[in-house]
Amino acid sequence: MDIRGTDHIELYVGDARQAAFYFGTAVGFQLRGQGGPETGLAGQRSLLLTHADIRMVLTTGLTAAHPAAEYVRRHGDGIAVVALEVDDAAGAYAELVARGATGVSRPRTWTGAHAEVVTAEVGGFGDVLHRLVERRGDRDGFLPGGIEVTAPAAAQRPLLAEIDHLAVCVPPGQLAETVRYYERVFDFAQIFTEHIEVAGQAMNSTVVQSPSGRVTLVLLEPDATRRPGQIDAFLAEHHGAGVQHLGLRTDDIVTAVGALGERGVRFAGTPGSYYDALEERVGPVDAPLERLRDLNILVDSDHGGQLLQIFTESVHVRRTLFLELIERRGARTFGSGNIKALYEAKERELAAAAAVPQGVTA
Ligand code: FE2
Repeated sequence: MDIRGTDHIELYVGDARQAAFYFGTAVGFQLRGQGGPETGLAGQRSLLLTHADIRMVLTTGLTAAHPAAEYVRRHGDGIAVVALEVDDAAGAYAELVARGATGVSRPRTWTGAHAEVVTAEVGGFGDVLHRLVERRGDRDGFLPGGIEVTAPAAAQRPLLAEIDHLAVCVPPGQLAETVRYYERVFDFAQIFTEHIEVAGQAMNSTVVQSPSGRVTLVLLEPDATRRPGQIDAFLAEHHGAGVQHLGLRTDDIVTAVGALGERGVRFAGTPGSYYDALEERVGPVDAPLERLRDLNILVDSDHGGQLLQIFTESVHVRRTLFLELIERRGARTFGSGNIKALYEAKERELAAAAAVPQGVTA
């Protein structure tokens, strides 16, 4: 199974134009194209946004029966498709289905003047699908005859580089079978596994990765024997398994967080005391600590080096999907501090939200 990387992600949202305004104005994505009934995509409006090598499709169902409308009704806005770049979509589809994947959409060829794209879809986790994407010719064609590119990429210094990983919450008892599914069907390998306990709450985490190393899923399962925490809250609000956060890699997190913050992106706060003990925990950090403290940027380390990371507050009413920015400085795996830092940061956010008196908008 030759999965080369993530081709794009697709979010199903209540209003694609509103969501595009957030991802465009605040996060720095550029609106590049669209599709809908006029291009043969009946019952939906889809907008294509890009930033460096990150491609995101925002889709809204125009009828109640459209899968995007069904998804949003059940889960709220969220990542519904993780599209995988393959050499042979029809071959990959046949192989995945033979190995036990649920076939969702059979191979289809999209033909344009300069590009030909073959897609097919299989089940992933929860209601999230994997779209297999095979591109021939002009890579900028996206989905000829479906989602057409209408604007060239603007010259800009990218703040974000690529998708680093997706964090996925699964219900209690489903982590092992989800890991096995990705190993057996997609040839992914376990690269890390851990039991994490924080303040009477606990979760299990296993990271699975494609053989290319370019698709990484951080799978999270609550420990049902302990006090409910943020993974349980996600599963309840999202109504089942789904993508909790999208990790976006940046080459310069200090500049990226500063710029996104000025544009209105809200990041999770970090207690000041975190920075007092930081270098004791991770060693010397090659960045001004005061700047990291001002911006609430977290640091962690593993055997390969360090990583800097930060999490946005969710912009969704259900407080489900949020973003992570991550700058890797040698750290390639997920040190325990990564997930613990997320867990603790999110718990603080939930505790702060719970402390807001009724009738006050948080
Ligand atoms: Fe993450």
